[in-house]
Amino acid sequence: ARSRQWHFVVPSLDGDGLTKGSRVQALDLGWKVPHGTPMKPQIRHGGPFDDQKPGTSGLRKPTRTFCQPGYLEIFLQAIFEADPPGPAATLVVGGDGRHFAREAAVTACRMAFANGFQRVVVGQGGLLSTPAASALIRSREAHGGIILSASHNPGGPEGDFGVKYNTRGGGPAAPAVTDAIYQRTRELERWLTRDDIPVDLDAVGRTAFGDVVLQVVDPVTDWLELMQTQFDFDAIRELLSRPGFRMRFDAMNAAAGPYAHALFERCLGAPEGTVMRGVPLEDFGGIHPDPHPDGLVDLIATTRETQPVDFAAASDGDGDRNMILGPGVVVSPGDSLAILAAHADKIPAFRGRGLRGVARSLPTSRAVDRVARREGFDLYETPTGWKFFTSLLDSGRISLCGEESFGTGSDHIREKDGLWAVLFWLNLMAVTGQGVRGLVDAHWGRYGRDLFQRQDYEGLDLEIATALMDRLKASLEALRGITAGPFSVLKAESFCYTDPVDGSRALDQGVSITLDPDARITLRLSGTGTDGATLRVYLESFIPS
Ligand code: G1P
Ligand code: ZN
Repeated sequence: ARSRQWHFVVPSLDGDGLTKGSRVQALDLGWKVPHGTPMKPQIRHGGPFDDQKPGTSGLRKPTRTFCQPGYLEIFLQAIFEADPPGPAATLVVGGDGRHFAREAAVTACRMAFANGFQRVVVGQGGLLSTPAASALIRSREAHGGIILSASHNPGGPEGDFGVKYNTRGGGPAAPAVTDAIYQRTRELERWLTRDDIPVDLDAVGRTAFGDVVLQVVDPVTDWLELMQTQFDFDAIRELLSRPGFRMRFDAMNAAAGPYAHALFERCLGAPEGTVMRGVPLEDFGGIHPDPHPDGLVDLIATTRETQPVDFAAASDGDGDRNMILGPGVVVSPGDSLAILAAHADKIPAFRGRGLRGVARSLPTSRAVDRVARREGFDLYETPTGWKFFTSLLDSGRISLCGEESFGTGSDHIREKDGLWAVLFWLNLMAVTGQGVRGLVDAHWGRYGRDLFQRQDYEGLDLEIATALMDRLKASLEALRGITAGPFSVLKAESFCYTDPVDGSRALDQGVSITLDPDARITLRLSGTGTDGATLRVYLESFIPS
């Protein structure tokens, strides 16, 4: 049993380990400890900040920016004020294990208690992959969750740090919420904390401090249980035990490691060594934790040996992305989404209910559109960023969605889920008897093939990149009808989206140029970089079967 002893540090007026110049004041919110002493959140002074506008997926900044006094705290305080907890509310806290995530998890727990949360559920060691955090928000009926991650951005003192806020139901906060958070960060001059609460992230279990409860959970358990409701684990186990069948999963020294070890090697019976780079490191071992062929040299080599592995996959910093490989083939994410959609009825998650609809982000290839048209389910095109899928998933309009940036997911949670997609592929291989190449070739044979390429121009001057996009938007009219090489421009537009569920609008989410014969160019500026601007140019062209 865990001790319920109260470790109370009385805040003194000249500070208890406060940053220079900050003050502490008593604020009576009626907090009580068992022996009747009122517990008071401490007020710390700092802020406001004018650069905390969340991007495509939370707030990402260089780690050194986040480590400035008060920087993390003001952003968290703004979250708690923009979306205040109701009575007896629960908050989920965890991150991808990068440098500063552990300290930030402790800060988030203390500030959550000071801001009225009654229970905080935190992953052991402060670790939670993004999909596991979304799963926990749902299973614990939490008010929301703080995910301490900059996803695929490099980590470490010289890398990046990030904070994502997910709301009730487990999805990334909607633009209206992130706008309200941003507004608050520009006004706040103080934050609330309960630095008297001794947050121990390592011991799994519940500890009560007066009226509030800290619950440290195994990061893997809830998510792994959920996976068993989605897939045929016996069929996958049988596949993995077939003589000669070999797979590799590269966790890139990041958050997916513990999940992959538990899933493949302990639960599904794959031999030890199936998971590569499975221990999360604070700096990801100095690599860019992004499933991109450049960073996966060893994994890709396993698919090109004389005796190649049958199946290989990788994930990113916070475990929400997936890359699927087979002998001599890297599956394009747009194709992966289309193949999963075409075979949805073969896994338990969709058996008997089928697919009502599927969504993809604007720049994602239109391979899945062809499946939707032929098989008769709805197709939605959304702006880039998982948050735009939430209302479609919540309303039951879609049950599967994906992005070209190696993101695939479904209505089992409200985030993309790297290992979920890997399991989907394994389940498919187990029940169809086909390998990766066979499934891809058969798909192209039936629906045709969408060639896809993304070019990233990184480290651009922000003003120049913005001016380029503005000029492009201004010349859309002139583009229509022109001919270039074999192509003529059918349509050229700046993509504006109206959410079909709540009617909210997102303007100018990228420029999209549709060509004849069937091809498309999409251009947009990235919203996850921390250095200048990144221009992404997406090119696709259709080859009929
Ligand atoms: C990138 C991807 C986008 C994804 C996001 C978070 O955003 O392009 O699909 O949702 O990371 O993983 P971008 O940098 O393009 O704004
Ligand atoms: Zn990610």
